[in-house]
Amino acid sequence: MSGKPTFYITTPIYYVNDIPHIGHAYTTLACDVLARFKRLDGYDVMFLTGTDEHGQKVEKSAAAVGKTPIELCDEVSTRFRELADFMNCSHDDFIRTTEERHKIACQAIWKKLEENGQIYLDKYAGWYSVRDEAFYAETELLEINNEKVAPTGAPVEWVEEESYFFRLSAWEDRLLEWYESIEPTVLPKSRKNEVKSFVEGGLRDLSVSRTSFKWGIPVPGNDKHIMYVWIDALTNYLTAAGYPDTESESFKKFWPADIHMVGKDIVRFHAVYWPAFLMAADIEPPKRVFAHGWWTNEGQKISKSVGNVIDPFEIVDEFGLDQVRYFLMREVPFGNDGDFSKQAMINRINSDLANDLGNLAQRSLSMIFKNCDGVMPSPGTYHETDNTILENADKIILDVREYMDKQEIHNALKVIWTFVSYTNGYFAGEEPWSYKVTNKIRMGTILYVTAEVIRQVAILIQPIVPNSAAKLLDQLKIPEDKRMFEHLGEDYRLESGVKIDKPDGVFPRYIAEDK
Ligand code: MSP
Repeated sequence: MSGKPTFYITTPIYYVNDIPHIGHAYTTLACDVLARFKRLDGYDVMFLTGTDEHGQKVEKSAAAVGKTPIELCDEVSTRFRELADFMNCSHDDFIRTTEERHKIACQAIWKKLEENGQIYLDKYAGWYSVRDEAFYAETELLEINNEKVAPTGAPVEWVEEESYFFRLSAWEDRLLEWYESIEPTVLPKSRKNEVKSFVEGGLRDLSVSRTSFKWGIPVPGNDKHIMYVWIDALTNYLTAAGYPDTESESFKKFWPADIHMVGKDIVRFHAVYWPAFLMAADIEPPKRVFAHGWWTNEGQKISKSVGNVIDPFEIVDEFGLDQVRYFLMREVPFGNDGDFSKQAMINRINSDLANDLGNLAQRSLSMIFKNCDGVMPSPGTYHETDNTILENADKIILDVREYMDKQEIHNALKVIWTFVSYTNGYFAGEEPWSYKVTNKIRMGTILYVTAEVIRQVAILIQPIVPNSAAKLLDQLKIPEDKRMFEHLGEDYRLESGVKIDKPDGVFPRYIAEDK
């Protein structure tokens, strides 16, 4: 083993009944940012994403388009993989629940649950929503136009069939204890309160198998039954870590997972059912479930029927990859709902990226290129303003790390950009151009200090805008092996005398094309 600390982060696995949209891109992107951050901070990271391919919903969707389930799965799963690559996500594994390794893991955990007396055979009679792949109690249903519907608005149907049950009701106390662990296990707090009151309201045993369709993993020893798709889906996180081989290096290294990132709609599955299944199978529950909010489009709920689904491929083509990555992570406090609007995107691109950071880099590096023979100047004696700015630059990682550890990605970015604005103020106030003739040393000092800030900022923003950060670091001639967070700070200051490249704007302004 490497001896490095480890970090295991997962996205939900995506249903293949739908094509990828901005919501999916968002979850994967947030995980990518956190995974990249931890790698740069010296961790051995495993970042998992993939597709959820079983269940009645997928079976029905395939039939509706005249395909076999596996044909549909192959096609749509590929599209999700392409999206992750296109968004420059650095996942280490892409799991498909139709893989053999996953069937083995699911059947193993089932057997373990049975062995532990956590599963029994009975009859289910109740409401089921195929769209949500969820069972609902009568009391949870709403009535719209005299029709009963799920709290999510999804249609429900009455189901009566033989079913295996999981003894969820036995896990109330352990779950309530888990929510109160010292390190928060469910974030944001509002979501923790939501699941907590759901559990406090009393848990009923959960139906975990169905006999009315075939597209799924058979229950070991009774293949009339197909496992409930959520047991199957959640187990993906174990499969990828190497389960059922709990002695494998990867399982020992990466389980329990550090973060399951999910959308707010699937918190109950991750923060109630999943830890209960795991504890019941003598497996440690994850360290944290973080639920982010949902995006609307120009104020409207995103839906296929409204026809306002945002295609991530399209917006990246229009605005640029790093620009979209930055916008999605900065615009909305991570955990809250957010509204996607083109104007908000353009504002962020032009003000934060082009004006604040882009201009600072372009102006200072161009001056070095033109007025210092294209080499990094040697700083003269530092003034107090120089010392203050360098001291602040050296400390910034501390705040950024603290926010990232709480998944407050927007706040981490705010800290960095506040510092960028502050440096802009320094640059404007010190007026390096005014010393071109009178005091080249002073000019060089100001330019050196500004470039050093850019070095540190570029290192810090690699998780968010990896391509642009690399471009800045390349221009500054920072070797690839000197771009980790351990290279922030005073010990790795820019080397004077190094020839820099002719700077080329990293963050162009967005100018709307006349249509
Ligand atoms: N297959 C299940 C997850 C199983 S995990 C063991 C599933 N899949 S999904 O494709 O429907 O949704 C995947 C994720 O996309 C969810 O976390 C969901 O919250 C997220 N989003 C879907 N639409 C969204 C928005 N409009 N905005 C933000 N995220 C949204 O659920």
